[in-house]
Amino acid sequence: MSLADAHQEQAILSSWQVNAAPWTDAVRQRQIASRERLTNAAIIETLLAIKPDALLDIGCGEGWLCRALSAHNIACTGVDAIDDLVQQARARGGRYLRLDYHDLAHVPLQPVDCAVCNFSLIGKTSTEAVFAAASHFLKTGGRLVVQTLHPVTACGEHPYEDGWREGSWQGFSERFQQAAPWYFRTLPSWQSLFAEHGFSLEQQREPTPDDSDLPQSLILVGKLTPG
Ligand SMILES: C[S@@+](CC[C@H](N)C(=O)[O-])C[C@H]1O[C@@H](n2cnc3c(N)ncnc32)[C@H](O)[C@@H]1O
Repeated sequence: MSLADAHQEQAILSSWQVNAAPWTDAVRQRQIASRERLTNAAIIETLLAIKPDALLDIGCGEGWLCRALSAHNIACTGVDAIDDLVQQARARGGRYLRLDYHDLAHVPLQPVDCAVCNFSLIGKTSTEAVFAAASHFLKTGGRLVVQTLHPVTACGEHPYEDGWREGSWQGFSERFQQAAPWYFRTLPSWQSLFAEHGFSLEQQREPTPDDSDLPQSLILVGKLTPG
């Protein structure tokens, strides 16, 4: 990993550490309008259609998605690097591990038939580490489901190419500080990540609000192929 990438990855973790409490409140008090209106339902619908027996929630935060899926009898485990978020998740019940994505391939994990990353692939090398570890945490034929900001809508005024971007907590309360950098990927870059790590892309969804022509998010579902 280059020093510059390592610095950015560290800034991401440091930001989530600082913002764990306001983030937990924002999610639990349903303050994030785009999630309530569209993207929570979109990821749940996508995962329920897959009908997994067991699911790994990678970058689970305070655990809302594990709780929602556990209610449908899916055995969920959440992993997240931030201890305060893992503690918040455990306090509401369920199985959670504190784990950085860079270590995913190096800890014993029971392979599952589905893993999800819901707005949790933020960095460059950390995202690559999740894909590189896929055959460790997924059974062959298992699905990796990623929901992320839609590259076309998230690109803004910048050139449409992969690269680090400055973060912002625009739209969030003033309790949020120290916005994290994030690594922008074009749609072909996301597609290549799946292809290069042995996935065939089964679905590409673009959840779009009723009152807009622009997609809010991108959901990609890859199936891990043998070999
Ligand atoms: C936007 S939050 C999403 C949380 C959750 N998936 C949700 O839908 O509410 C991003 C999460 O990714 C986690 N994260 C980011 N980089 C990580 C890394 N390298 N290793 C583990 N967790 C990481 C953060 O701690 C944070 O909980």
